[in-house]
Amino acid sequence: MGRLDSKVAVVSGAARGQGRSHAMTLAREGASIVAFDACSSFAYPMTPPATAEDLAETVRGVEGMDQRCLSEVLDARNSAGLEQLAERTRQEFGRLDILVINHGIWSIARNTWETPEEQWDELVDVLLTGAYKVCKAFMPLMIESGGGSVIMTSSSNAIQPGPSSGAYTAAKTGVVGLMRVMAVEAGEFNIRVNAIAPGGVNTKMLQEGGTMEQSLEWRPTFLGLNKNLLPNLQWLEPQAISDAVLFLASDESKFVTGVLLPVDAGWTVG
Ligand SMILES: NC(=O)c1ccc[n+]([C@@H]2O[C@H](COP(=O)([O-])OP(=O)(O)OC[C@H]3O[C@@H](n4cnc5c(N)ncnc54)[C@H](O)[C@@H]3O)[C@@H](O)[C@H]2O)c1
Repeated sequence: MGRLDSKVAVVSGAARGQGRSHAMTLAREGASIVAFDACSSFAYPMTPPATAEDLAETVRGVEGMDQRCLSEVLDARNSAGLEQLAERTRQEFGRLDILVINHGIWSIARNTWETPEEQWDELVDVLLTGAYKVCKAFMPLMIESGGGSVIMTSSSNAIQPGPSSGAYTAAKTGVVGLMRVMAVEAGEFNIRVNAIAPGGVNTKMLQEGGTMEQSLEWRPTFLGLNKNLLPNLQWLEPQAISDAVLFLASDESKFVTGVLLPVDAGWTVG
């Protein structure tokens, strides 16, 4: 018996990285999955884009665990597409119990005041407005289902400032505000709303395209010091974040709501 038997979970940004790991972890515990991802390039991030083949690999992973997986190439900025996917979810599964808002991009500028307006807009649209749009589309189905758990991915940058990441940090801090307000509003519908603040995670966002290298060049003293409190650790593996998602999705956290949970090996303590 799994911890999420007969539950239905939506995961945004599910083509790769943490999103794929979340989808597979929730499926392993018995949940059916609705996986969507933009699978397209963005104007400012240097990270290579995810592809439709990446998303198909997530679907194969979920189905390999004998769970159903509905998937769609869809951008979290596309409200009409999100409403249609929510309707497809209702038709296919009849309910929604877990909403994981994980999608994200990361781009940088040396200083916040030097960030081009288009870059600022892209980050805020994807990370913050996109999170709101996903909630707007899927909350009615979760309310109809009698309750559930919403889990948003913020960042350790929302706790400790990320230099050269002004727009990213502002948007991820905004996600925390969104989470807190929604926790207050959704409680009466038996819906818990929480967020996770991952530290550095070993995914393409951090490891490919040169964003981390450029950040280190600009801010060697800030970013170059390994502030993990636990031994033998550089970056976290995606599964470490998925384990926290699973906790927040399951009944083991049934009285946890309105919380920002850092999963960062203590990076933000000092
Ligand atoms: N990697 C890290 O060190 C780190 C640290 C803290 C927080 N985060 C956050 O964790 C989340 C997952 O990132 P990751 O590390 O797996 O990186 P990743 O680049 O491997 O995955 C992000 C996924 O989100 C998708 N995506 C981006 N914008 C989208 C949109 N508008 N609509 C739909 N899909 C979209 C991408 O296509 C990609 O598949 C992001 O929110 C990120 O900001 C990452």
